[in-house]
Amino acid sequence: MREKLLKDFEDIFEYSDNVEYYFAPGRVNLIGEHTDYNGGHVFPCAISLGTYAAARKTDEKIIRLYSKNFQNFGVIEVSLDELDYDKKHDWANYPKGIIWSMKRAGYKLDQGLEVMFYGNLPNGAGLSSSASIEMVTAVLIKDLYNFNIDMQDMIKLSQATENNYIGVNCGIMDQFIIGMGKKNHALLLDTNSLNYEYVKINLEKASIVIANTNKRRGLSDSKYNERRRQCEEGLIDIKKYIDIQSLGELDEETYRDIKNLISDEINKKRVKHAVYENRRTLKAKKALEIGDIKEFGRLMNESHSSLRDDYEVTGVELDTLVELAWSKKGVIGSRMTGAGFGGCTFSIVKDEYIEDFINDIEREYKEKIGYKPSFYIAKIVDGAGKLCTP
Ligand code: GLA
Repeated sequence: MREKLLKDFEDIFEYSDNVEYYFAPGRVNLIGEHTDYNGGHVFPCAISLGTYAAARKTDEKIIRLYSKNFQNFGVIEVSLDELDYDKKHDWANYPKGIIWSMKRAGYKLDQGLEVMFYGNLPNGAGLSSSASIEMVTAVLIKDLYNFNIDMQDMIKLSQATENNYIGVNCGIMDQFIIGMGKKNHALLLDTNSLNYEYVKINLEKASIVIANTNKRRGLSDSKYNERRRQCEEGLIDIKKYIDIQSLGELDEETYRDIKNLISDEINKKRVKHAVYENRRTLKAKKALEIGDIKEFGRLMNESHSSLRDDYEVTGVELDTLVELAWSKKGVIGSRMTGAGFGGCTFSIVKDEYIEDFINDIEREYKEKIGYKPSFYIAKIVDGAGKLCTP
């Protein structure tokens, strides 16, 4: 991979000395969806699809950015002093935003940079392509400029970039797992305290199969922000009567006792999902720990139903993929992953049935939806860093 990146780097920037290489993965969230901005738990893992970067420092005060995935934009050139968000820079606003945030946080960037990116994550498909390019930019800057910044601070800085520079009010899950991922492990994160724990993934002759609906996501950012607002409104109603800081503090029983304090019927459903999903995540982590994959799969299925009926972030494409998966032999569980509104599902499928699973669902989904889904088999890898393999 390094050789290939170097060749492309040379073609674009006509220079090849002092180039360094980096990689940030994407992620699949196993369970705990739309809980991270509600002070709940999430249980993601980092996957081998992600964003590569080849980069070097220059003597000018200019940043040059190029993406093999967006070749029509050519090399995007900005001065180190003019890093404001610019709609016409499109994809390049993500790395620009990280540099902008680093400067605002007091890190002294006095030399320019040339970076070439290449990603093999499908864009906007719910596998965190944006957090992946943000995190690969953060680690390359730390390394090239020798900044004294630890992974947790880079994670917070990337989330702040997404919130304040890009304008998506996301939680911390994506950046956290992309920074802290561990090979063959999932990570249970308490988004309230940021305490975390790794759990070994042992699926016993089964694998994680990701399926992309290939639906264009469109209005997802505004709907995401709307869900967040609905949960916040529900919390305000509850706080008038009981002393809590976030929905993550509630259990199912308490929710049943206090649900009528929430005045709006839609907000009530949103809060129900946030509370039940958080509890499901803790149960699912326990099930995985003791090797009860069947129970893990059952909780995955329950999570999808709750995202469909109470949180209403699925849609016909995701529901079709999941319902088809549920009907297939060898499937232990299946659910949407990520923000929803299109994007990807993942299923745990016994290895001997994977081929049939993919062939059948590809055909049946196309019959129903009109176009084909795409499939990826996920390997669970380490978080963002310097690329060590040749
Ligand atoms: C997106 C956000 C995350 C999280 C998920 C839903 O991926 O970036 O912070 O809220 O949606 O679980």
